[in-house]
Amino acid sequence: MAPILDVRGLKTAFPSPSGPVNVLDGVDFEVQDGEILGIVGESGSGKTMTALSITGLLPRTATIRGGEILYRGSNLLALDNRAMNRVRGEQISMIFQSPRASLNPLYRVEATLEQVLRTHRGPRGASCGGTRTSCRAACVSA
Ligand SMILES: Nc1ncnc2c1ncn2[C@@H]1O[C@H](COP(=O)(O)OP(=O)(O)O)[C@@H](O)[C@H]1O
Ligand SMILES: [Mg+2]
Repeated sequence: MAPILDVRGLKTAFPSPSGPVNVLDGVDFEVQDGEILGIVGESGSGKTMTALSITGLLPRTATIRGGEILYRGSNLLALDNRAMNRVRGEQISMIFQSPRASLNPLYRVEATLEQVLRTHRGPRGASCGGTRTSCRAACVSA
């Protein structure tokens, strides 16, 4: 079966006085539908840069110098910002390490999840109906 996410030869670089330096130098992996993949590595080995490359959220100074990121068969690197905005959050999301920004304990989980649904589906799509079962259904279908 074709993988849902197929990362091939991904190279991401930052500028340096002596030219671009690859922080990712040919990353390859694939994820099948329903599969859970854990990427483990020491600090600075490129886990975050891999995720930011996939979600199109790299810092402005970074460049992707090679490779492909195929999501359901289409190359995310070929999408413009508008098309990528439709994928990001709706199809592929990143939960950042910063708990304050991502999972703020001052907000109910429902409110955090609703923000994503509201962005992609408008106010009606965001409504969970208030019960635990209906919220779970809305989130699972998202
Ligand atoms: N803004 C940046 N400018 C230059 N180099 C960076 C920047 N951010 C991260 N790096 C470098 O990219 C490499 C990979 O970092 P990162 O993906 O954050 O590692 P991990 O998440 O595995 O700890 C590291 O060597 C880090 O120093
Ligand atoms: Mg990291």
